[in-house]
This record gives sequence, structure tokens and C-alpha cells, in this order.
Amino acid sequence: MLEQLSVLAPDPILGLAAACRADPNPHKIDLTVGIYMDETGICPVFEAVKKAQRQLIDEEVTKAYLPAAGDPAYLNGMKTLVFGDELVGDGTHITAVQTPGGCGALRIASEVLAAASPDATVWISNPTWPVHIPLMGSVGLKFATYSYYDPRSHGVDFEQMVNDLKSAKSDDVVLLHGCCHNPCGADLTLEQWSILADMALEQGFTVLIDLAYQGMGSGLVEDVQGLRLMASRLGELIVAASCSKNLGLYRERTGVALFFGRDTQSAAATQSHGLGAARRVYSMPPAHGALLAGRVLSDPELRSSWERELEHVCGRMISLRRQLSEKLSAKTDQDFSFIAGEKGMFSFLGLSVEQAKGLRQTHGLYMLDSSRINVAALNADNMDKVVAAVASAL
Ligand SMILES: Cc1ncc(COP(=O)(O)O)c(C=O)c1O
Repeated sequence: MLEQLSVLAPDPILGLAAACRADPNPHKIDLTVGIYMDETGICPVFEAVKKAQRQLIDEEVTKAYLPAAGDPAYLNGMKTLVFGDELVGDGTHITAVQTPGGCGALRIASEVLAAASPDATVWISNPTWPVHIPLMGSVGLKFATYSYYDPRSHGVDFEQMVNDLKSAKSDDVVLLHGCCHNPCGADLTLEQWSILADMALEQGFTVLIDLAYQGMGSGLVEDVQGLRLMASRLGELIVAASCSKNLGLYRERTGVALFFGRDTQSAAATQSHGLGAARRVYSMPPAHGALLAGRVLSDPELRSSWERELEHVCGRMISLRRQLSEKLSAKTDQDFSFIAGEKGMFSFLGLSVEQAKGLRQTHGLYMLDSSRINVAALNADNMDKVVAAVASAL
């Protein structure tokens, strides 16, 4: 039976990273994949996570399953990290399901949404992270797109976004990026979040927030101002959060689906559907990453060490953005100041597909066909080479 299967095309992003690895060009530069890299080109383990890991190895006495919803210290830590003390209150209106990464959280959230509204259309930004579509679509949800990034202004076309979302119905879902929009880096202002909250209240659609980069844009609190505003105004919200980037736990698959409910009963009901979906798909959550994150979030010493490290990561990306924007503007006759104003790891350079492909062949410079680059993959060694290559393509 299996011989009937043909080989699928590789994932577009992972396929490009593999092509870069296979490229014999000694001067190649990979700006494709979404992982944070330090000045030496390594995706580092946070010191706080290393310490938590040493503690865990010494103290761990069992590998028995975690509770089905996940590790309590991790779940409580994530609720507060995302919503803040004030919105958490006594915590009974917020439930959570620990998941394998942010992708697992998006999948569990999709299962819950499909159970609540089987005919729901999920409104996604144009563009969005391409994995949203197979992840959420495999549950049977349909999609519509709303305008988001305007390549001419290099910013959010909010007027058009609002116009498009006027068609979202009460049983639809609007997916928003909490911060550090992937792929464009252009985020909503607090005022724009507030307008969207008004629309959600008036039209009755449900908001799902993909939060994969908290702390990587402007800071741990700053990056969730819009999300918190939305939660307090709507009283009901789902968040798919990831600890891959902000705790560097990528391979440990550490995420959480958070259900912010109007009351204890609705939060419990939503969680029960999430747990049912998890049981059907993979049964029990992976433990290691969540146990580490739970320690880092709840131990004051580890927590402040992690926060300092994350501030450094965030500050470094802000500085790389400033350097890249200044250098590109100086080397070309174009204004690249938008790069300095965007947030997180990604920005579009504004090149055509041909230019992006050409740079791979001529300079071994790898970016996505859309010209999305990972700013965090820049460093003192490759910055000028990237600038010169991009300038030559322009
Ligand atoms: C926008 C967005 N959402 C969610 C994720 C989920 O990441 P993970 O499943 O690795 O935690 C990512 C990872 O790149 C992302 O960019």
C-alpha cells in the first residue's frame, strides 16, 4: 500500500534552510529560519534554563506522566506572564492546556474552536506565518484573509484591515499575532488593538492570539499590552503561547493554549475540549521543557536572570535593526528606516522573488522568496556582506 505514496515537496522554509546547509559556498549566509542567534551565530541556551536543568536532573525522581493539563508551576507561570496579575485575579476564569510548542497550542485551540463553531471561518492576516494554514486547516476550519501588510508603505494597512474584518461573522474567529508579526515585523498600535476590540464586541467574533515572541519585540510587558487590552475588554479570548523563542526551548516543544473565559464554568468547559483534543492527538504533553520553564518562571533568582538575558536578546535585535536600516539606507537610494521601527526577528526587505532567488545564486545569501529575513541571524561578521549583497541586487 505505501508504495503508492509519492514524495512530498519539502516545507518551503525548512527546505531553504536545508538548501543553504548543502550549499558549498564558504561565504553563504542563512537568514531564513526563525531561531534567535547570538553574535557568534549560535542559538544559545539561556543561563537560567541551564541552571533549572541542572536542578531538575538532581531532583527529578520520576518520569511518570505529568497531569494531562500539564505542570501546575508552568501553567500558573504562563497565565501570569501572558495576562499579568491584575487580569489573572484568583485565576479561576483562566484555564490552560500545556502543549508541544506553540504549534501544539494552535492545534489544540483550533480543535476547541471547531467544537464550538464547526462552520467557523478563521480570518488570517495577509501575509501570515504559512504554517497557520495546515495547522488550523487540518481540523477542518476554513479561512479568509484580511489585509495587513502594505509593501508600499512598509506598514500595516489598518484601514483596509478594518474594512475586511467588517465581514467577520459572530461565529468566526480572527487570528491576530500578539507581537512581532511573522513574517513582516509590523505590529498593531494599542489604539488599533482597541478598535479591533470594539469590532469584536460589536460583531461577536472570537479572537485567537498567536503569541510566539513575547519579550522579543519591546519587552515582556510591552509586547502583550494589546493582548491584555483585548482580554479585559472582551472577557473571552484564546491565546496560543510558545516558549520556543523567549525561553529558547525550541526542541523541547513547550507551549500552552490559554483559555480566558467569562466565568469559571466556561473556562472549565473550554479546557475540557482542549484536553479531549490532546488525548485524541498525542495523549500527554512532553514534560522536560515545561518543567524547566515552570522553574524559571516561579523561582525569583532564575526568573530575574532570565529576564535580564531576554532583555539583552531583545536589545540586540533592536540594535541590529537600527544598524541594518542605517547601512541599507546609506548604501542604496532607498529609505529602509521601516526596519528600525518593526519588531522581533522578521522583516521583509522589499525585494522581488527574482532578486531574492538571485542573491542565493550570486552571493550565497539565503532569505525567503518573499524577502523575509531573520534579523537575529545578522552579526558583526556578516552585516556588511548582507548590506553589500542587497545593495547590488537593487
Ligand atoms: C508566528 C508563529 N507562531 C507559532 C510558532 C510556533 O512555534 P513552536 O511550535 O516552535 O513553539 C512560530 C514559530 O516559529 C511562529 O513563528
